[in-house]
Amino acid sequence: MIDYMKKFSLKGKTSVVFGGAGLIGREITSALAQAGAKTLILDVKSSRGKETASELKGRGLDVGFTAFDVSKLKGIEAGLKRLWKDFSPIDIVVNSSYPRTADWGAKCGDVPLQSWRKNVDMQLNSAFAVSRAMAELMKENRVKGSIINIGSIYGIVGNDFTVYEGTKMTSPAAYSAIKAGITGLTRYMASYYGGDGIRFNILCPGGIFDKQNPGFVKNYSKRTPLKRMGRPDEVASAALFLASDASSYITGTAFMVDGGWTAV
Ligand SMILES: NC(=O)c1ccc[n+]([C@@H]2O[C@H](COP(=O)([O-])OP(=O)(O)OC[C@H]3O[C@@H](n4cnc5c(N)ncnc54)[C@H](O)[C@@H]3O)[C@@H](O)[C@H]2O)c1
Repeated sequence: MIDYMKKFSLKGKTSVVFGGAGLIGREITSALAQAGAKTLILDVKSSRGKETASELKGRGLDVGFTAFDVSKLKGIEAGLKRLWKDFSPIDIVVNSSYPRTADWGAKCGDVPLQSWRKNVDMQLNSAFAVSRAMAELMKENRVKGSIINIGSIYGIVGNDFTVYEGTKMTSPAAYSAIKAGITGLTRYMASYYGGDGIRFNILCPGGIFDKQNPGFVKNYSKRTPLKRMGRPDEVASAALFLASDASSYITGTAFMVDGGWTAV
């Protein structure tokens, strides 16, 4: 009989979570560590990263923190080679980092071109640099790993701006372009590194509740088949599945965790 629960276990595995101190990254870190993986948070925010790691350690989980800035594109390859020396082999990589410019969230008509370009650099170009560096290190060391990028419903479908009615909120054009770009990149990488046994998937959450404007929450919930926004732990459960051997034949997929948003 196949032991299905064992497939979900990450005992003996090592994982790194870029942006592991964030809303979603923190829960993903907790899920991977609870499943048995030695887990490292890589985040630009040292105080929050250290706090998160020590809180999870206090709950008996094997979680550490190292400062890492994905927006410094030129340093990514060398930085990750150094990391690999100290922390290898790395079996699981989740990229939940979310750098953005101060004017992120401005209306489409108001966004300066240089701001658009900077966000593409920090989010899309960093996703390429991180995933290529990690995949090459896995390949070189014959690690059949799992690499998970975090996308969004807006990398898959166009925006429904009615959910912002009555609020000052919007969704940036760059967000859609970047997330669609990372979705394409993930499929490319799945195909390119598939022969090395390295799996690449993109996890695409819908809106996650984070005390947003009540009008937006109401509009968003009404538009969603499950009639509510998502929770970080619901994204983390899916990340655990994609990280584990339970998803051993799944690669190149855009895995929706969206309460049905993209189904209608
Ligand atoms: N929150 C949502 O509703 C939602 C919905 C769909 C998709 N997503 C996606 O989920 C991912 C995580 O989002 P979140 O809501 O947890 O965001 P968040 O801002 O709470 O967390 C992002 C983390 O990335 C870190 N970070 C920022 N710049 C960095 C850098 N240069 N280098 C390394 N780390 C850096 C931050 O310090 C933070 O800990 C993003 O890709 C986002 O687009 C979020």
